[in-house]
Amino acid sequence: MATKKKSDKLKKLPSKQKVDTPEGYFGEFGGRFVSELLIPALDELNAAWKKYSVDKKFHNELTALYTEYAGRPSLLTYAPNLSARWKAQVYLKREDLLHTGSHKINNTLGQALLAHKMKKKRIIAETGAGQHGVATATAAALMKIPAQIYMGSEDLRRQALNSFRMKLLGAQVVGVGGEKGTLRDAVNEALRDWAKNVDDTYYLIGSAIGPHPYPTMVRTFQSIIGREARAQFMKMAGKLPQAVFACVGGGSNALGIFYGFLKDTKVDLIGAEAGGRGLTPGNHSASLTAGKPGVLQGALTYIIQSGDGQVHNVHSISAGLDYPGVGPEHAYLLKSGRTQYVAVRDKQALEAFQELSESEGIIPALESAHAVAAAKNYVADLSKKGKKNPAILICISGRGDKDVEEVERLLALPVEPEIVEEVPTAQQFTTAPTVKVIAGGE
Ligand SMILES: Cc1ncc(COP(=O)(O)O)c(C=O)c1O
Repeated sequence: MATKKKSDKLKKLPSKQKVDTPEGYFGEFGGRFVSELLIPALDELNAAWKKYSVDKKFHNELTALYTEYAGRPSLLTYAPNLSARWKAQVYLKREDLLHTGSHKINNTLGQALLAHKMKKKRIIAETGAGQHGVATATAAALMKIPAQIYMGSEDLRRQALNSFRMKLLGAQVVGVGGEKGTLRDAVNEALRDWAKNVDDTYYLIGSAIGPHPYPTMVRTFQSIIGREARAQFMKMAGKLPQAVFACVGGGSNALGIFYGFLKDTKVDLIGAEAGGRGLTPGNHSASLTAGKPGVLQGALTYIIQSGDGQVHNVHSISAGLDYPGVGPEHAYLLKSGRTQYVAVRDKQALEAFQELSESEGIIPALESAHAVAAAKNYVADLSKKGKKNPAILICISGRGDKDVEEVERLLALPVEPEIVEEVPTAQQFTTAPTVKVIAGGE
């Protein structure tokens, strides 16, 4: 497993850099790199976000939706069997138990409520694994706003169940990107639609990606995960965890849980990216571990790109991680040294998917299985150094019902030969970023 290590001397957030600025920068990352057509829509959204994010009534309405509709607080579960196997104290934050089966509902309820306040007549969204699409269709149905969901054709195949769920919920599902279409194609199509229909349409983005204010807004809605988890962990374990793990696609569940522990600088915050078949181009989606700074879909962040700055094809067994970029705040956190990222291979994620299912009776989403695998490796590494029985927290971002057919298919395939892993070149942002790739809003 490849690791992007944090440097010990940089464990704290650097005080000199500006974070979460009014322009949407996290250090040098983030911003709004979009076509001029979208600027008025982003300004309108930002103004609404600024108003409602400090509005008590909005906050109370959202809290009621979280508790009475979505099922918050989600449980913190001690995993006794995994703990015995790994020789650790393993705790799971159970976002899989929420309504619609993943953390995505935290964000869609927040944004759909905002769309309702903004009196928008139509919601559009992109989806990869379908979980965000389902959560959007659900929130849109509740708010009585028609929804149209863009989904890559390859994702439509591997997440057919979620596509049907969205239709049942009254949403229109549109396949995009040709035969191999994935999340990136879906985001591009949604941005194109938004540029054409800015007046009456709300673009409900599904992760902490895209132009300002989306990364801040989505992270804020998801930070409920970390706030709850920290209090629950203190209550159950009587101490803080040594490390917190979450998978990173666009990065919203990871930011959500990390936010509860950012100031606890003794707690390791570890994001699990999709290492796919290995870190050679086209075989993974590990933007932070093996990407470079560049602009994708409206923000300056780490992206997987070819030598001339074009977005490279990516791969993951998990549709929700199959994305060539990552939220800009993760790029900043990586650079600051507060977080670290590891690339988990498809095979390791599949094993973790089975191990959690068999040992605890919890079938995780394939995305979440990446976090489980990263945690297992972390415990094994500590054990080699003689450090025993660490208390750790893993974010189970979603449940695996959507993945069982795909996993059955994958387990029946002949074992693929291992690809020799290339050691990624240093990715710290020491040179001028590539800003050639502006995929959204054209
Ligand atoms: C269950 C689940 N976990 C994680 C992710 C990755 O998204 P993010 O990195 O924004 O949390 C997805 C995306 O679809 C998902 O469905």
